[in-house]
Amino acid sequence: MADKALNVISICGSLRKGSYNRMVMNALPGLAPEGMSIKEAPPFTDFPLYNADIQNSTGFPAPAQTLGDDIRKADGVIIVTPEYNFGIPGALKNAIDWVSRLQNQPFAGKPVALQSASPGPVGGARVQYDMRRAMVFLDALTLNKPEIFIGNCAQRIDEKTGQITDEPTKGFMKQQLAAFAKFIAAHGSKN
Ligand SMILES: Cc1cc2nc3c(=O)[nH]c(=O)nc-3n(C[C@H](O)[C@H](O)[C@H](O)COP(=O)(O)O)c2cc1C
Repeated sequence: MADKALNVISICGSLRKGSYNRMVMNALPGLAPEGMSIKEAPPFTDFPLYNADIQNSTGFPAPAQTLGDDIRKADGVIIVTPEYNFGIPGALKNAIDWVSRLQNQPFAGKPVALQSASPGPVGGARVQYDMRRAMVFLDALTLNKPEIFIGNCAQRIDEKTGQITDEPTKGFMKQQLAAFAKFIAAHGSKN
C-alpha cells in the first residue's frame, strides 16, 4: 500500500472505438493497489499535426496545454498503446511531440509505466522499446519491470464486454501496478 494517495493518469495510444488497448486501460483502476487512483488523461484526438510554425504563431493548442498540465500534476503516467509498424502510433507520437515542447516539460522526472496489447503473439514489445527511447529523451522515469505485453489479446479480452477474461493477465497487470506504486514512492514525482 502506498503511504500517500497516488494520482495516476492513463493514456491510450489507440483512437479506435473497439480498441483492445483501451479495454486494458479501462481495467487498470480495478487492479490498482489501495491508495492509487487511475483516471484517463484528457484526449489528444484533436491535436493538429505538430508544426513549429503553429507553435510559434498561434501557440500551443489548448488540448495540448491541458494534457501537459494533467501530466505535470499526476504522480505517474501509464501509457497503454498498440504497436504500429513496430513503433509508436502516429497520433500518440504527435501528442507526445506537442507536450514535449511545452515549458516546464511535463514528462521530466515523471514516473511512467508502459503496457501494450496486440492480437499478434509478441504483444507490442517493440512499441515499448520505441516508447522507452522517447521517454529517455524526455527525462521521464520509466519503470523497468515487470513489463506487460499482452500477446494474442483477442483470446484474453472479450471484445463484446470489454473485460479481460484471462486471470494471469490481470495478475501480471496487478503486479506491475503494485511495483509502480513502490517506484513512485521510491523515486517520486517532481509535482
Ligand atoms: C497501421 C497498423 C500497424 C500495425 N502494426 C503492428 C505491429 O507492428 N505489431 C503488432 O503487433 N500489431 C500491429 N498492428 C495490429 C494491431 O496490433 C491491432 O490492429 C490492434 O488491435 C490495434 O490496437 P487497438 O485494438 O488497441 O486499436 C498494426 C495495425 C495497424 C492499423
